[in-house]
Amino acid sequence: MRDSPTHFQLTITGNEKVGDRFFLLSFENPGVSFRPGQFAMVAISGEPYPLLRRPFAVSRTPEGTLQILYRVVGTGTRLMSYWKKGRKVNVIFPLGNGFEKIQNACILVGGGSGVASMIALARELHSRGTPYLLCVGTKKSGELDPHSSVFQNPPLNVKFATEDGSFGFHGTVLDLAEQHIHSFTCAAVCGPPAMMTAFLERFPDVNAMFSLENHMGCGTGVCLGCAIETRNGMMRVCVDGPVFPGKILLPEHLK
Ligand SMILES: Cc1cc2nc3c(=O)[nH]c(=O)nc-3n(C[C@H](O)[C@H](O)[C@H](O)COP(=O)(O)OP(=O)(O)OC[C@H]3O[C@@H](n4cnc5c(N)ncnc54)[C@H](O)[C@@H]3O)c2cc1C
Ligand code: FES
Repeated sequence: MRDSPTHFQLTITGNEKVGDRFFLLSFENPGVSFRPGQFAMVAISGEPYPLLRRPFAVSRTPEGTLQILYRVVGTGTRLMSYWKKGRKVNVIFPLGNGFEKIQNACILVGGGSGVASMIALARELHSRGTPYLLCVGTKKSGELDPHSSVFQNPPLNVKFATEDGSFGFHGTVLDLAEQHIHSFTCAAVCGPPAMMTAFLERFPDVNAMFSLENHMGCGTGVCLGCAIETRNGMMRVCVDGPVFPGKILLPEHLK
């Protein structure tokens, strides 16, 4: 059961640094139902700049706290990293389709900020007792703290890969996934376009769902700023996605 997208004024209960460039933003529980993979459009400022809201995946802790895991990449996320407990933030959510209910053993593959879109799904599979493995890839150790509550509340079944080998598996997150993928009947993937393209090319026969992180203007289907070409024609990532089956994606249009 999902609720319709609504404007909320949410009060921040925490904004914790959980790695070199990652923060975990927590809000009071607005009591809204949403699916893993659905997202929120977050107003960054009441000022004219930055004007556009920014999209972020949402998850929930076992206690019901609403959370956004974000990586500081530009103006909006840098401003967010200064936010303090007690601040009120305007968000529109839940938006997008989210993941269908997954019944079978599933491998979750998150690269860079794409790991954020996997957290709600991992927490749901964990709570339902569905077998899963969360594979997290970063360039080097320290980018995202494996001991943080992101992975420990609840304690997720997670493996880490670093490209320089400074923590966990030495290699890319796809190299790590390749070691385990034979044990799973489906995959959920989110990461930079090059990583998702490589997944499609490397594992063409895997039943995979991809959560896309395209640039968004409105987030509600109006501006067409997020439209992509698929095997089923043009689609808007914000309302037709952000979760798409791999079989309809065109690798050349993920870039
Ligand atoms: C459905 C959805 C869910 C998302 N969930 C999360 C999440 O949970 N956590 C998280 O950290 N990020 C997530 N993102 C990405 C996040 O929205 C962007 O990183 C954020 O909007 C950047 O804002 P900014 O103002 O800091 O960067 P800007 O100043 O707008 O841009 C900084 C740099 O990042 C690039 N950039 C900005 N947005 C994107 C994008 N969407 N894709 C690729 N490059 C981009 C710009 O081209 C520029 O080079 C999600 C995106 C989508 C569409
Ligand atoms: S962001 Fe405006 S239509 Fe998708």
